[in-house]
Amino acid sequence: MPTHAGTPRTEVPGEALIEVRNVTRVYHRPRTSLTRPGAAVHALRDVSLTVRRGERFGIVGESGSGKSTLLRLLCALDRPTSGTIRFDGQDIAGRPEKRLRFLRENLQIVFQDPMSSLDPRMRVRDLVAEPLAALGLPAAERVSELLEQVGLPAEAADRYPHQFSGGQRQRIAIARALAPRPKVLVADEPVSALDVSVRGQILNLLADLADELGLTLVFVSHDLSVVRHVCETVAVMRAGEIVETGPVDEIWAAPAHPYTRTLLEAVPTLEGLL
Ligand SMILES: Nc1ncnc2c1ncn2[C@@H]1O[C@H](COP(=O)(O)OP(=O)(O)OP(=O)(O)O)[C@@H](O)[C@H]1O
Ligand SMILES: [Mg+2]
Repeated sequence: MPTHAGTPRTEVPGEALIEVRNVTRVYHRPRTSLTRPGAAVHALRDVSLTVRRGERFGIVGESGSGKSTLLRLLCALDRPTSGTIRFDGQDIAGRPEKRLRFLRENLQIVFQDPMSSLDPRMRVRDLVAEPLAALGLPAAERVSELLEQVGLPAEAADRYPHQFSGGQRQRIAIARALAPRPKVLVADEPVSALDVSVRGQILNLLADLADELGLTLVFVSHDLSVVRHVCETVAVMRAGEIVETGPVDEIWAAPAHPYTRTLLEAVPTLEGLL
């Protein structure tokens, strides 16, 4: 695992599950003149990281640092410009969708805003069962079990997303993500659209589920205190690069990179609330 120069950090034991090696992603802005090409944006520059089985891995950084781009690549929703990404030993970066079934079954995503990630016209029962149907897996019995796992009553199955609070909607989104029994749950800012009062509950739910189900968690936030609450390992991103990575408690106690120090000073928003 790469670390900030000169600061060896303790390795988390366990087998590598996700291996990102030297990944770069360049986007091209639309051209604004006939003679000049659109500007190139290096969303990721030479990023390498390893997520181990059962690990809770946080990615932290300011807006525009490349967190969501990295997640999209891990989920094979986008391709790297160069570099490799392996999931459970298999290269996913260049594969066509029809050869990604193993990834779709084993990796599920929770998005930032449950209001826009859940179809408002569908009942909770169908929303939660949808990923199973998409993979041709049986859904009967599973929905009430999933609702219970995320702390919702069985009657929730017959209601629509707008009949729930923001925190409850995020619980529905988590139930839906857990439906195919994935090994990995990927979450992009899963509490930043929620009221501060329920953020702690949703973070605790994710951490408890990861424990109970032996999930590997890849968790993105701009807030290091949120990452620290849920994750054991963190990678700190800045301008498309990982500037520091290692056990979150060690980095919290003694950040090696000046940028991590500024993050620490800027965002202790959850302290006292959890
Ligand atoms: N499809 C795209 N086309 C062009 N540029 C893009 C595209 N997606 C991302 N970018 C650029 O890549 C950089 C990284 O964006 P990304 O969304 O990964 O950041 P982020 O860390 O998730 O930020 P935020 O905290 O605001 O969600 C930004 O400069 C962004 O403008
Ligand atoms: Mg983002």
